[in-house]
Amino acid sequence: LGTGPLKGRHVLVTSGPTHEPIDPVRYIANRSSGAQGTAIAAALRDLGARVSFVTGPADVPPPAGVEVIPVQTAQEMAEAVNSVLPADAAVFAAAVADWRVANAAGQKMKKDGSGSLPTLEFAENPDILASVSQLQAGRPKLVVGFAAETHDVERHATEKRARKGCDWIVANDVSPGTGIMGGAENAVTLITANGAETWPRLTKHETARRLALRIAEALD
Ligand code: C5P
Repeated sequence: LGTGPLKGRHVLVTSGPTHEPIDPVRYIANRSSGAQGTAIAAALRDLGARVSFVTGPADVPPPAGVEVIPVQTAQEMAEAVNSVLPADAAVFAAAVADWRVANAAGQKMKKDGSGSLPTLEFAENPDILASVSQLQAGRPKLVVGFAAETHDVERHATEKRARKGCDWIVANDVSPGTGIMGGAENAVTLITANGAETWPRLTKHETARRLALRIAEALD
């Protein structure tokens, strides 16, 4: 720690899924393992960065040598991100729930025996990537988002880059059969202002290493 091309740089990484409570014992989640975000945080650390790692409840442990800020919900993740800014670069690898349950119960919901069914109402969560990308003051120099797509990866990711206002999108094809979601490998397309670059299928560690090197180059 403390040497390498990212020495003296502060980089924020979000990772993992979020859990959105239904009641004190139930939640809505997604299948993100946190593997790619964790590998990115470790790779940035290895290049000398000070890394703030804001993570939802992931399957894999956080890397050593980074500042870990554990969160459960998207709203907590948004607050944690605000609390660690400013940063030189920010990588948003988390799979944030788009919606939270608006009518979450304060006590465990019970079957009342009448056969009546609960109804969940939803509210939209804050879009953390978009809000940081569009900061008027204190925007990180480099903001990187992710896009998990099942088809037309390049087109959808290019549109997402424009819509969110981030600098880069790391897009991957997560359609069934690729084995990427939850697997050890990734095949990504990097979308920048200069267009799309397709990387070979690599381990998530090697993908992270390449991305960290590109981030170091961009901040140089
Ligand atoms: O729009 P979509 O959710 O597909 O965009 C994915 C990208 O946006 C990821 O980088 C993810 O971390 C980020 N995101 C976020 N906050 C949200 C939703 C997505 O930061 N509420």
